[in-house]
Amino acid sequence: MPFHKTRVSRKRAIACVFTINLLALLGCPDPGDIIQDQQPLFVYLTWQGDTSTTMMVNFQTKDSFSLPFVQYRHIPDNGDPPEDFTRIDDGLGLQLNQHEDKRWVHSVEITGLQAGQRYEFRAGLDTGLPSRDYLFRTISDEPDAAIRFINGGDMDLEDTGTDIDDDHTKQLMSQAIKDDPHFALLGGDLVYEGGSEELEEKWDNWFLTWQEIMVTSEDCLVPMVLAVGDHEMDSDDPYDDGPEGVEFFLDFFTQRRVNQKLTYFTQTFGPNLVVYVLDSGNAYSHAEQVQWLQEEMTNHADFPNQFAAYHHPLYPSAKDFDNEWAELGRELWGPVFDEFGLDTAFEHDAHTLKQTFRMRGEIVDPTGTLYLGDGAFGRKTREPDEHEYLEFAEEVKHYWSVSVNELGATYTGVDRKGRVIHQYP
Ligand SMILES: [Fe+2]
Repeated sequence: MPFHKTRVSRKRAIACVFTINLLALLGCPDPGDIIQDQQPLFVYLTWQGDTSTTMMVNFQTKDSFSLPFVQYRHIPDNGDPPEDFTRIDDGLGLQLNQHEDKRWVHSVEITGLQAGQRYEFRAGLDTGLPSRDYLFRTISDEPDAAIRFINGGDMDLEDTGTDIDDDHTKQLMSQAIKDDPHFALLGGDLVYEGGSEELEEKWDNWFLTWQEIMVTSEDCLVPMVLAVGDHEMDSDDPYDDGPEGVEFFLDFFTQRRVNQKLTYFTQTFGPNLVVYVLDSGNAYSHAEQVQWLQEEMTNHADFPNQFAAYHHPLYPSAKDFDNEWAELGRELWGPVFDEFGLDTAFEHDAHTLKQTFRMRGEIVDPTGTLYLGDGAFGRKTREPDEHEYLEFAEEVKHYWSVSVNELGATYTGVDRKGRVIHQYP
């Protein structure tokens, strides 16, 4: 069942501010509770626009009687910040009626930012308490700047809170944040099971953990770029529900306002990196994305680093080579990757650490695409199978640490103790 959503209109917002004031005068219900329920539970960052000049601030509240806002100010690396915050009011609030507590997800996009700069911000609702202050840094647009990001998927948070003693996902996050990543490229299956009745508690735990742990050494939250996995779907059957079956994921993480039901899109990071985020047969079929991918790779051919990220591998390490998703990917996407020279594909779902040889047309070819994976950010691992395309594969929970510049990229697989398990090249 998809979530049913309600949006706050300006008329309703004005009416509700008036109502709260009236309730306060009448003394019931407690206006303090109303205000408390409108305080942000979790604050987290995504992008729909330019990663150097925009930031999407997302936050959740238990209730909402007004439109969301964000206040922000530039924190220069040298010199004093301005005293005044700039305020943005034209955000979007959605109520998730299927969620047990009927909570709201709000998103406010900040635009007109400077590249590679740090900003302080707070978010909230007019009729509630604002969040505490947070920081973020926009992506540099300098041609010689290095971009760092972490990649992973298939997480498995067991405990509430942020005690990392027994939880491998928390341990991996705690290692990954030491890289001071500029963003996180997440490949799906963040919470198991996406559609179960334990959904609320598990997602709350995930958001809380991300917000608490994924803060860089300069106090910046790490923006997320997310591909969808099969466990974000309400149904296990691919294509059965289409985008309706992944609505809560799309509402939680605002990555597109126009065409907001799309789970595939292109994102660039400065002049040297483009990432094609694809949906490997969850809400959309492989076939539906082929023409779009051809056009996007044509339009972004000048970027020296061409990456893709998606959930189901074309070259699985621990699942049947001929499984439906892998076959469709190799048949429909493989030729596009080959034609346009995709450098690296980040794959997930099989729960191992793997690096293929460079592959072109299903044959080992040094001019082909590197396939890295396979999504073991805490989830129970599998033993890799023997495949001629695997240059390295090990049963180990890990994340990938990636550094990109105009000359290329380096990739390091790190385990939950911070040990380097594998490097490429
Ligand atoms: Fe999966």
